Amino acid sequence: MKLKNSVVIITGASSGIGESTAKKLSENGAKVVLMARSKDKLETLKIEIEDNGGTAIVAPGDVTNKNDFKSVVATAVDHFGRVDVLINNAGLMPLSFVKKLKTDEWDQMVNVNINGVLNGVAAVLPILIENKGGAIVNVSSMAAHRYFPGGAVYCATKSAVKMFSEGLRQELAPKHGINVTSIEPGAVDTNLTSTITDEDIKEKMSEMQKMETLKSDDIANAIYYALSQPEHVNINDVYLVPSEQK
Ligand SMILES: NC(=O)c1ccc[n+]([C@@H]2O[C@H](COP(=O)([O-])OP(=O)(O)OC[C@H]3O[C@@H](n4cnc5c(N)ncnc54)[C@H](OP(=O)(O)O)[C@@H]3O)[C@@H](O)[C@H]2O)c1
Repeated sequence: MKLKNSVVIITGASSGIGESTAKKLSENGAKVVLMARSKDKLETLKIEIEDNGGTAIVAPGDVTNKNDFKSVVATAVDHFGRVDVLINNAGLMPLSFVKKLKTDEWDQMVNVNINGVLNGVAAVLPILIENKGGAIVNVSSMAAHRYFPGGAVYCATKSAVKMFSEGLRQELAPKHGINVTSIEPGAVDTNLTSTITDEDIKEKMSEMQKMETLKSDDIANAIYYALSQPEHVNINDVYLVPSEQK
């Protein structure tokens, strides 16, 4: 699709992969709608994008709140007159071993990583169907392919996102011209591990940090690749890992 002048909503735009993706797509002519809970960080990013010649608006919201998502979509339409792409990127990874029964953290992961994606699709889909085209990119993970220590619930949420993406693609691409991509990165150098409270996992993560990880820009490049294909090409999955990761 043509990214130039496309209106792209990006969730989790206040840091890491979402922030890099907002910069990459705006550098390539997209008008970006920045969604996350941290309004101040989004305002700073908007200024940076505009200083670089891009177009961005700030639309704060919590992806677990259906009304927040509806008002983000309404803001995008009020401001730009349309929405073309949704990037469901917001996510959490408070890894823990199941026997520790950190059930509040399980709920958070299910709410943000799965329900957040469903809420986004529900908010944007009527517009994309009316437009007869567009794209949805869901940020899943390597965790959709394999379990890693402490990741039983996280891996389950990311598997759900991967499978939901495939169902969406089959329902939307042939009949409505809406392409759907699942992005499945291995370890990326971001703040994602900051929500981990299980001390046993923290120890394991510090071992992993010795490896050369992917950078947020690598994932932004993968998202750009998926979105810049001709309309008849649907990139289903992009599974990318650090060369050093087993
Ligand atoms: N880093 C990795 O190794 C890796 C690997 C594979 C997949 N991923 C996936 O990549 C995605 C982005 O993560 P990241 O690595 O860039 O981590 P990050 O830097 O921690 O970014 C997470 C983003 O999600 C947002 N977020 C969290 N809860 C939210 C909520 N309820 N509503 C709205 N926004 C919310 C955060 O913003 P606020 O706190 O401001 O709301 C933040 O912008 C996640 O889905 C993650 O699972 C990451």
